[in-house]
Amino acid sequence: MEGKVTIITGAASGLGKADALRLAEEGARLVLTDVNTDAGVDVAEACGATFVTQDVGDETSWDALIDSTMADLGQLDILVNNAGIAPIATIEATTTDVWRDVMRVHMDGTFFGCRAAIPAMAAGGGGSIINMSSTVALVGVAPYLAYSAAKGAIRSMTKSIASHCRVERNGVRCNSVHPGSISTPMVHTGLQTLHGLDIMAQPDPEATRIALGIGEPIDVANMVLFLSSEESKHVNGAEFVVDNADTVDQVPR
Ligand SMILES: NC(=O)c1ccc[n+]([C@@H]2O[C@H](COP(=O)([O-])OP(=O)(O)OC[C@H]3O[C@@H](n4cnc5c(N)ncnc54)[C@H](O)[C@@H]3O)[C@@H](O)[C@H]2O)c1
Repeated sequence: MEGKVTIITGAASGLGKADALRLAEEGARLVLTDVNTDAGVDVAEACGATFVTQDVGDETSWDALIDSTMADLGQLDILVNNAGIAPIATIEATTTDVWRDVMRVHMDGTFFGCRAAIPAMAAGGGGSIINMSSTVALVGVAPYLAYSAAKGAIRSMTKSIASHCRVERNGVRCNSVHPGSISTPMVHTGLQTLHGLDIMAQPDPEATRIALGIGEPIDVANMVLFLSSEESKHVNGAEFVVDNADTVDQVPR
C-alpha cells in the first residue's frame, strides 16, 4: 500500500474513519472526504491525510475532487465509496423525499464516484474501487426500505463496472463489501430508535457489543485493506460479507 493514492468518502466517522486509519498505517496517501468538515479534518490530521469537504451526491464535486487529487498527488489508485445515511422507514412510511435522499447519497454518489475515478485510475495502469454495500442488499430488512434498495443497486452496479473494466482491460477492479451490524454511530442510532437501547450508555458497552453479535469497524477496514492491495489482484466483481454468519444463520432464537 506504500504510496498508493486513496480517496475515502464519508471518512469523518465510523467505517470510513477506520478505513482511513488502517490504510494510513500501511503507507497509503489519503484524500478523505465528508459533509462533516470538523470531524473530517480531525481524522485527516490523525492519519496525515488531505481533507476535502464533499457531498457525494453532488455530481460536480467529483470532477473537482479527482482533478485536485491528480494535481496534488499525481495518481489515483484506490477509491472507497463509503459515505452513507440510513433513515429508518418501512415501505409504507417512506416518503418520496426520504427515498430520493437515500438514492442520492448511495446510488448517485457511488455512480458519480466510479464514473469519475475510472479514467484517472486507468491512466495509471489500473486501480481498485471498493463500494460499501451491506448485508441488507442480500436479504432486505423491513425498517430500512430505501436503504435496502440502494444497497442492492450498489451491489449490482459494482458487478456491471467490474465486467466493463475487465472487457476494457484497463486494470481497474471493482468489488463490494457487505457488513452486517458494526459498532458505529449509524448502528448506535438504529439500536436506539428501533429498540430503545443506548449501547454507549451501558455499564460495559464493549460487553454489550459482543453479546449482541455486533462487529468492530476494524473488521471491515481489514477487508477494505485486502481489496485495496495487490494481494487481491485477481478479485473483481465480487461481494464480501463481513457479518460473522449473521445473514446465513437461520436458527430461530
Ligand atoms: N455500521 C454498519 O453496521 C454498516 C453496515 C453495513 C453498511 N454500512 C455502510 O457503511 C458506510 C459507513 O457507515 P457508518 O456505519 O460508518 O456510518 P456513520 O454514520 O458513522 O458514517 C457515515 C459518514 O458518511 C457521511 N456522509 C453522509 N452523507 C454524506 C454525503 N452526502 N456526502 C459525504 N459524506 C456523507 C457522514 O457525515 C458520516 O461521516 C455507509 O455506506 C453504511 O451504509 C454500515
